[in-house]
Amino acid sequence: MQKKTIHILSIESSCDDTGAAVLRNNEVLSNVIAGQKIHAAYGGVVPELASRAHQQNIVPVVDQALKLAGITKNQLDAIAFTQGPGLMGSLLVGTSFAKSLSIALNIPLIPVNHMQAHVLAHFIKEEGHQAPPYPFLCMTISGGHTQILKVIDYNNFEILGETIDDAVGEAFDKTAKILGLPYPGGPLIDKYAREGNPTAFNFSEPKTANPLDFSFSGLKTAILYFLQREQKKDANFIKQNLNDICASVQRTIVTILMKRLMKAAKETKIEHVAIAGGVSANSEIRSSLKSMEKTLGWTTYIPKFEYTTDNAAMIGIVGYFKYLNADFGKEDITASSRLGINES
Ligand code: KG4
Ligand code: ZN
Repeated sequence: MQKKTIHILSIESSCDDTGAAVLRNNEVLSNVIAGQKIHAAYGGVVPELASRAHQQNIVPVVDQALKLAGITKNQLDAIAFTQGPGLMGSLLVGTSFAKSLSIALNIPLIPVNHMQAHVLAHFIKEEGHQAPPYPFLCMTISGGHTQILKVIDYNNFEILGETIDDAVGEAFDKTAKILGLPYPGGPLIDKYAREGNPTAFNFSEPKTANPLDFSFSGLKTAILYFLQREQKKDANFIKQNLNDICASVQRTIVTILMKRLMKAAKETKIEHVAIAGGVSANSEIRSSLKSMEKTLGWTTYIPKFEYTTDNAAMIGIVGYFKYLNADFGKEDITASSRLGINES
C-alpha cells in the first residue's frame, strides 16, 4: 500500500541557479536557491563558470534545504532532479549528485523535465492559489523557451505555438544589453517601464507562418537600429529616454504574447489560462493576463513569484506526481540538454 506522506528532495541545476527543495506531498517545506552573480560581469551565463559554481553550491544548498524542512536525509522517500533541458555542464552536477545520493540512501531517483516543472509549479499547494483543471493552456515564457501549451495531463503536453528564434526572456535580456543594463535585464526593463510612456516609440510586430508561433530576433534588430539612429542625432538619447524605451519595448512584447494567447484560447475553446517561467514575473504580463478575466471571462493562473524563475520546488512537484505513478528513473539515466516537452 502507498505511504500517505511522501518526502521528496528535489534538485535544480539546469542553468545558473543551484536549487534544492523538500516537499511533503504537494506542499513545500523548504525551497533554497543560490544564484550566481558572477555572470553579470559577462553580460550572460558562462557555461563553464556555471558548472563550477554548481559544484561549490550543491552540498550547502541541499544541506540547508533539509535543515529548513526539519527532516533528515533518512526520512526522504525519493530524489527528484532536473534531467534537462539546460546547459550540459550544469545539468551534470545535479544529475550526478542526485544519483549518488539516491544510491547511498537506496531510494528512487526521479528525472524531471525542467519545462514541465515550470508549468506544473501551479500544482504546488499554496494558500490562495487554485490549481488549474485539465485541460488548460499555459504560456511558458523563460530565458530559454517561449511556448503556448495545451496541458492535457501532468505528463501530456501539446505544443500549440513556440518561438522560431529567440525566447522572450532573450528579447528582454538582449534589449537590456543594448541599453547598457546588466544581465539579466528583464527585471530592470520591467522596473523602468513602470515610469515610462508605452506609446512613446513604435516597434512593429513580427509575422510568423503559424499565427501561434513567436519570433523575437527581428524585434531585437529593429530596437538596435532604432537606437543607433537616435544616438547619432543625440548621444544621450538612451539616458534621457530610458523609461519610455523600456515601456515601449515591453508593451510591444506583451502585445505579441497576449495576441497569440488569445488566439490559442479562441481556437481551443479553453478558458483556463496559466503563465509560467521566469518572464511570468513581469508585472505587465501579469496584469494583462489578469485583465482577461473581466474582458474575456477567462480563469487565470499566475504562479507565486518564488515559483516563476528557476527553483527546485517546481522540480519537486513533478517528482511527486511521478512518484505516485511509480515513474522512476533507471540507474543509468543521464542528463539531456535537449529534452522535448513530453520527454523524461
Ligand atoms: O525561467 P528562468 O528563471 O530561467 C530559464 O529557464 O530561462 O527565466 C529567466 C528569464 C530571464 O531572461 C530574465 O530576464 C527573465 O526571466 N525575467 C523577466 C522578469 N523577471 C525575470 N523578464 C521580464 N520581466 C521580469 N520581471
Ligand atoms: Zn527555467
